[in-house]
Amino acid sequence: MGEYFEEILERAISRRDVLKGMLLGSVVLGLSPKVSFSKSLGFRSIQPSTEDRIILPEGFEYVVLIRWGDALDKGPSLDWKRIYEKGPSWEDVERQKFSFGYNCDYVGFFRLSDDRALLVVNHEYTNPELMFSNFAPSGQRPTREEAMLMLEAHGVSVVEIRKSNGKWHYVKGSPYNRRITGSTRCEISGLAKGHTLMKSSYDKEGEFVYGTLNNCSGGKTPWGTVLTCEENFHSYFWGDEFKIEHPKARLIQELHYRYRVPSEWAMVYGFYKYSERFNIEKEPTEPLRFGWVVEVDPFNPTKPPIKRTALGRFKHEAANCVVAPDGRVVVYMGDDERFEYVYKFITKGKYDPNNRQANMDLLDEGELYVAKFKDDLTGEWILIAKCEKKPDGTYAITPNPDLPEPFKSDPVLCFINTRGAADALGATMMDRPEDIEWNPLTKSAWVALTFNERRGASGQPGTDRANPRANNVMGHVLEIKEANGNPASTTFTWQIPILCGDPNASEENKKLIIYGQPASSSTPAISAPDNFVIDRLGNVWIATDGNPNSSRLKKNDGVYVLNPFTKEFKMFLSGVPGCEICGPEFSDDWKTFFCAIQHPGEGGLGGQLTRWPYESDIPIPRPSVIAVWRKDGGEIFA
Ligand code: FEO
Ligand code: CA
Ligand code: CA
Repeated sequence: MGEYFEEILERAISRRDVLKGMLLGSVVLGLSPKVSFSKSLGFRSIQPSTEDRIILPEGFEYVVLIRWGDALDKGPSLDWKRIYEKGPSWEDVERQKFSFGYNCDYVGFFRLSDDRALLVVNHEYTNPELMFSNFAPSGQRPTREEAMLMLEAHGVSVVEIRKSNGKWHYVKGSPYNRRITGSTRCEISGLAKGHTLMKSSYDKEGEFVYGTLNNCSGGKTPWGTVLTCEENFHSYFWGDEFKIEHPKARLIQELHYRYRVPSEWAMVYGFYKYSERFNIEKEPTEPLRFGWVVEVDPFNPTKPPIKRTALGRFKHEAANCVVAPDGRVVVYMGDDERFEYVYKFITKGKYDPNNRQANMDLLDEGELYVAKFKDDLTGEWILIAKCEKKPDGTYAITPNPDLPEPFKSDPVLCFINTRGAADALGATMMDRPEDIEWNPLTKSAWVALTFNERRGASGQPGTDRANPRANNVMGHVLEIKEANGNPASTTFTWQIPILCGDPNASEENKKLIIYGQPASSSTPAISAPDNFVIDRLGNVWIATDGNPNSSRLKKNDGVYVLNPFTKEFKMFLSGVPGCEICGPEFSDDWKTFFCAIQHPGEGGLGGQLTRWPYESDIPIPRPSVIAVWRKDGGEIFA
């Protein structure tokens, strides 16, 4: 089995290098391919909508590629209609381990050959109110089977897709297909491995964790692995933190408080009722073993996922890599909660494009930084700590000398309590940092700040120039222009290309402002920017999560595009009611646009909002990944 995959991998990589090397290299290394910056986006903008259908500009079509419950192996797909009506059985829980998970978020495309590719898809969370009839959290609900099916519906899917007759479809039973779930064994790697706070009753050495949870967005590494990000991990843990018995109980309580553990969301998932590791009274350190960036090799289904502790612990939205001119790899990361921070990690080692294996542990050594945005439109990356592997395999950690105790005497805490370290260093509290992506054409990092209605409220932090709106309900997009266009720089300037909103809104803090100018009345309204993908021409594609909210647009979420050179702004896709749009991604020939339709129907108990993708009279929708293409077969943005 191992040999089989190594062989396929080698073929895939060498072929890709030959065919795509120029393009891949130019994008990853941040060199600009020859493009016309002023090229207009080749479609007519749509407008936000409340219709119960996916809307695309004229000349585009889509297909549903894969849905919650579709079998990845050759076995039967999940019987989601019966599960909805009668509740799941243990057999269903088993089938979920081999079937596409719920609430698809990040989508990553990896080419295998002309007509074959892998998609890596995150499964962030579950909606029991849409999966099971008459659901409400109670002593009995979720049942054990419901809870365990939900645990198995979290995580990651790797799935092969093939193109025939011009359309992508997924391949059942491909040997690449794989599920990583809330119970899959994941390894702990880097400096926090073996630390007292990383040990649990089932892992006395602090070396592994069962499961990865709340996998929100992610990113690809230049060496062809995926970084899947553990975001709202606190949602699964319950128990009384004051009943924790542990030699480090006080410290653990402080850390849990800073990361909002325990959480009442735990009632909705019910894991703690059936598995002691989600009860912090029984297993006080288990939440500390989540909140990491997890590296997955999609080409090697036998390799365990690896939690990379050098990238810090927080509510990771995404992790996007770019290779600096000197070969070091920079990873941009956001911590998605109100008043949290923007981070980046710079590897110690250099990326070797000719030796994949040599890059596999690059993310274990380097420097972790947090951003400070100043009101004079400059900024700096403040070092939190640096870690290097010593010859004996242990780590030398150098914390920022300005950090107080206990970071000085136990510098591993810089990485386990990254939020606490960033607080102490005076980093800038942002309006919910989501995706951050390097744009090789603007040579800048684009930051989505989704919204923060608490900004400026009584007892909350006030506005600053980087978070300029009180009651920021619409969100904004910020651009970090690193010194010398070098992502490894530690100083930058910044600007706000988009203050989101509706051009026709009456309230000032809800108006759409693009590069400082009020948008014309026909410009599509946008709110709650969440995830980006950057195309070959440097256009910034923005997927949203929050348009439907009554304080925002009362419209379905969608996908928008900003051309940062012409300042043209268009809407490309409108989703169905209740969904957010995630994982915007392109195929490497730019002819297919992939996105996830996450939690369609959320907010409408029993799915009254939508039945998309309309497969049954049973009133439940299914989260799915779709593929979009131009009818003329051209590049999406041509
Ligand atoms: Fe899971 Fe920040 O979105
Ligand atoms: Ca997100
Ligand atoms: Ca992205």
